Amino acid sequence: MQKTILITGGAGFIGSHVVRLFVNKYPNYQIINLDSLTYAGNLENLQDIEDKENYTFIKGDITDEVFINNLFEVEKPDSVIHLAAESHVDRSITDPLAFAKTNILGTMILLNAFKNLWSANWENKLFYHVSTDEVYGTLGETGLFTETTAYDPNSPYSASKASSDHFVRAYGETYNLPYVISNCSNNYGSYQFPEKLIPLFINNIINNKALPVYGDGNYTRDWLYVMDHAIAIDLIFHKGVVTETYNIGGFNEWKNIDLVKLLCQQMDLKLKRESGSSEKLITYVKDRPGHDLRYAIDATKINKELGWEPSVTFQEGLSKTIDWYLDNNEWLENVNSSAYKNYYKDQYE
Ligand code: NAD
Ligand code: DAU
Repeated sequence: MQKTILITGGAGFIGSHVVRLFVNKYPNYQIINLDSLTYAGNLENLQDIEDKENYTFIKGDITDEVFINNLFEVEKPDSVIHLAAESHVDRSITDPLAFAKTNILGTMILLNAFKNLWSANWENKLFYHVSTDEVYGTLGETGLFTETTAYDPNSPYSASKASSDHFVRAYGETYNLPYVISNCSNNYGSYQFPEKLIPLFINNIINNKALPVYGDGNYTRDWLYVMDHAIAIDLIFHKGVVTETYNIGGFNEWKNIDLVKLLCQQMDLKLKRESGSSEKLITYVKDRPGHDLRYAIDATKINKELGWEPSVTFQEGLSKTIDWYLDNNEWLENVNSSAYKNYYKDQYE
């Protein structure tokens, strides 16, 4: 079946994996990648597919209402897979309004444009909102987030994503807009900007820089290899039930400090450095304000209903990820730009 799919945020970390998967797997689909290329958007992430016939890149901002309405009128996308967002919790603490603008207003502008285009006939149309497990707030030592866990966000980032989820549902209830939402745990893998824990620490180990562990390091996250997220998005897009939510997670909880130690061991081996040398870089620093203690996803629903499960173990995924960063030094050098250096100085020094 022919389709035109607008993927927002396709030049970012997860978006680039989703765009590549769809462009390669579905030659009948026209894939439009809409991205404003913030510091986190990088067309180098998509060099291998940029000449494909079913792929188009459009530079544009989802908060620019006139531009978005015009784009929808011209391109008439049957579906939207919406990933564009400000995505880093620490940046949301220093600049919360930027998160409200892109994540809430930007999502509403897309919803509105989609509604204006198709509300006379919603047949075969879908708005897929890619969201996060952070909307559920924090867990204590036990328990898991399910699709019915109450929203309880704690950071400006997670509050903005929770708000955008609510608007997607509200458009479904009010205008019958067909939607699905997925809430995923922490992703890791290639092309992730080195501000997030795993690529930041790989980058710092390569450069013999301190590894800034927030607080006591006893915070827990549930890690998922990014390709497994992209595969889940493909499944939900094609087989998910409209108006449903799906939680996606790795069944893979790690305390930050244990993960960092594992990463240090693997880096020592791969860089042929003396065992224990990377661990010496661990430095405990001031905690993140409002730091959520623990995230963990119950992914039973997507597993039982859509047959999805992670395909890669954490050891394998982490090893592949480290290899990718070591083999793609030029990519890393390019993103270690002066703008990023300024952010790093403000955040850590
Ligand atoms: P990212 O920060 O790597 O990429 C975001 C992309 O959105 C970038 O390419 C950026 O240029 C683009 N963008 C930002 N503002 C824009 C705007 N106003 N207009 C157009 N484009 C804009 O993010 P990511 O980690 O790939 O996350 C993608 C999505 O998945 C986000 O919605 C995020 O909330 C969600 N998510 C991320 C994770 C994770 O672990 N990274 C987990 C669950 C859900
Ligand atoms: O759970 C899904 C979310 O995962 C996504 O929605 C977000 O977009 C994504 O950024 C991620 O959020 P986290 O805040 O969990 O990821 P981050 O990599 O920033 O941090 C992971 C953990 O590591 C967290 O407990 C904070 C800690 N940390 C992070 C950084 C950057 C440190 O100890 N030191 C650091 O320098």
